[in-house]
Amino acid sequence: MRDFVYCAPTRVVFGRDTEKQVGQLLKDFGAKRVLLQYGGGSVKRSGLYDTVVACVKAAGIELFEMGGVQPNPRLSFVREAIELCRKESIDFLLAIGGGSAIDSTKATAVGVPYEGDVWDFYAGKQQPKTALPLGVVLTFPAAGSEGSNSSVITNVEAGGIKRGLGCDLTRPAFAIYNPELTYTLPPYQTAAGASDIMAHTMERYFTNEPDVDFSDRLCESLLKTIIRQAPVCLKDPTNYEARAEMMWASTVAHNDFLSNFRLGDWASHQLSHELSGAYDSTHGAALAVIFPAWMKYVYKHDVKRFCRFAVNVMGVEPDFFHEEETALKGIAALENFYRSIGMPVTLKELGVPDTQLRELAEKVKRNPDGTVGQFVKLNTEDCLAIYELAR
Ligand code: NZQ
Ligand code: ZN
Repeated sequence: MRDFVYCAPTRVVFGRDTEKQVGQLLKDFGAKRVLLQYGGGSVKRSGLYDTVVACVKAAGIELFEMGGVQPNPRLSFVREAIELCRKESIDFLLAIGGGSAIDSTKATAVGVPYEGDVWDFYAGKQQPKTALPLGVVLTFPAAGSEGSNSSVITNVEAGGIKRGLGCDLTRPAFAIYNPELTYTLPPYQTAAGASDIMAHTMERYFTNEPDVDFSDRLCESLLKTIIRQAPVCLKDPTNYEARAEMMWASTVAHNDFLSNFRLGDWASHQLSHELSGAYDSTHGAALAVIFPAWMKYVYKHDVKRFCRFAVNVMGVEPDFFHEEETALKGIAALENFYRSIGMPVTLKELGVPDTQLRELAEKVKRNPDGTVGQFVKLNTEDCLAIYELAR
């Protein structure tokens, strides 16, 4: 069991019509000049943009905006946002959307007060010492960025390198959740979100830490909730309860509540980031391809844990005389679940060519000791083998 410090200060405001509280919340947090970031237009089509703008203006707050954050948000956009913030003396940032709008906002938050180039943080050269505060109106349960300390940015000019920053200063001051705002999510995005939420939980679940029973059980419950609720959302997109469960699960899966006492793995995320960086793959879809391949490659490291996953999460009939078989059945069941919700499970289905797998494997972000992952520490050949298994 590891010692830990846990700090998740985000004020959560959950329920119908809560987006109308955005002006008051900004005032509560002392905002006067706000930069709003959002994506490619879903918030305009849904009417959320108009509601938020009206509420912020009614609160007497000066509002600036930058729309057009792309999925796998770009460094170039962040640099522009930083410039605008400096020019207009912005004192608070607001994101409406999913992980991409939030991460672009988080990168802006650390970039504004920093004298150097914001990429220094993502390249691991510097750690932020200060940041602008930010708030969120969430439209997509997936990345968990609304409660997490992390943000992930893609540097296209450097050849499609996607890198993350972990920094508690970027945890949002507040996050607003109205499950009705997620009714418009296309099925593919709903499923990709489910895959990402599961991945955040499984990265933590597969640990070498013994005696972490409480968080093991929390992880299993969260995974079972997604397995139950994601198909409901797909079948019945306006099911409030199912959408609400997905939204809260998204946050709990990634705000480190499940990390206490344990060290997670994160190799699957690093391997997936290379696919998104190079081929712009949807994050959750890339994870649905990589996670089962990673599992097939590493399960022998702790067959008992994979067996427990198979039985407690995937509902495989327990056969403790044949633990390896049970473990493999669990991995197959996970793949089948991804298929059933419309996720790809091979690189081919993801639309990623298998011609440059070695190049990808060489680029994967390393731990300080040169390896990838924690549950099993991988080298370049291991990463390549996992990509090969995912073909
Ligand atoms: O751009 P718009 O038009 O808004 O459309 C978006 C986008 O095309 C659409 N969308 C979002 N909410 C919608 C909606 N469409 C209809 N109705 C709604 N309510 O969905 C598409 C994807 O949105 P995006 O924000 O890119 O998705 P997601 O939340 O999955 O974020 C993905 C990014 O987050 C990073 C990923 O790597 C990726 O770059 N992650 C961030 C993490 C973090 N900060 O803690 C952790 C994750 O592991 C992840 O790496
Ligand atoms: Zn993720």
